[in-house]
Amino acid sequence: MSKKTIAVMTSGGDVSGLNAAIRAIVRTAIYYNRTVIGVEKGYDGLIDADFRSLNSGSVSHIISRGGTLLQSSRSERFREKKYRDIAYQNLKDHDIKYIILIGGDGSLKGASIMSQESDINVVGIPKTIDNDISGTDFAIGFDTAVNVAMEAIDRIRDTAMSHNRLFFIEVMGRNAGYIALEAGIAVGAEGIIIPETNRDLELLYKTIDHKKDWKNSSFIVIVAEGDETGGAYKLQKLIHERYPELYTGVTILGHIQRGGSPTCADRTLATRLGVAAVEKLLQGEKNVMIGKVHDEIVCTPLDKIHNRRLDVDNEMLKLLKILSK
Ligand code: F6P
Repeated sequence: MSKKTIAVMTSGGDVSGLNAAIRAIVRTAIYYNRTVIGVEKGYDGLIDADFRSLNSGSVSHIISRGGTLLQSSRSERFREKKYRDIAYQNLKDHDIKYIILIGGDGSLKGASIMSQESDINVVGIPKTIDNDISGTDFAIGFDTAVNVAMEAIDRIRDTAMSHNRLFFIEVMGRNAGYIALEAGIAVGAEGIIIPETNRDLELLYKTIDHKKDWKNSSFIVIVAEGDETGGAYKLQKLIHERYPELYTGVTILGHIQRGGSPTCADRTLATRLGVAAVEKLLQGEKNVMIGKVHDEIVCTPLDKIHNRRLDVDNEMLKLLKILSK
């Protein structure tokens, strides 16, 4: 392999749209006469020299598929310098100096460390259903996750309506309420419980007090898994103690939010970021993450990337207050 080789890898939890990004990277690199290798299983693949050549045909018909062609990992070993040194040696042995890494906040931190400790130039692409990465308005996977959640919750609403029930629906979001807020507004939820505020519970009590005597009604409360109440089952218990007369149920959406065919928005985002990553890298950009802000492609230094926190005073929460009355 030559200096012109570009390696591509996916790291951290899978999301829908990774394959669209891999396809864009491979095809763009080939367009600019570069060879491409895929690193299997994220950072573990760097440590184990788990590399394979990719050509245009390797990425045919994957744009519509969930998961990742290259597989992924949350590598514990890569946290240790001794294993990172093995990875650097493997890359040297294969004459790889350029990597495009598609990953979340933790993986992008790993990329930043890699660029400080070695002469590898890593360009990052943001992906996470949690959407909590700075430097981009949207990370790959978020749009699909919220659409999957929305569709599932609409179905649960049918049961809630038919039986006068209150459902607590737990969505993913380790430390972030983006999925809960977006999907909650889209389904007309009566309550949205997120880690970024503790005023949400108070608002939920008010809404229940206001509505609980209604006949032929239903309640949908979206709970972000990372909320300080401890999730949907804990919240159900709290509400049951306060309103024992209400019939409540819990649904945990879990990993269905991470898989499946990506939405149009995720496919186009992944494609734009993938093409831009190769072009920026070839233009000499170093150690940056490629994001999309106000529909413009922007580069942010990897060491400036951090967890983004949802603004609780944002317009969406106000919407909930108005519409749940
Ligand atoms: O960070 C993405 C995410 O899906 C979180 O929302 C969730 O808490 C976590 O990953 C689950 O990780 P795993 O698939 O390793 O259980």
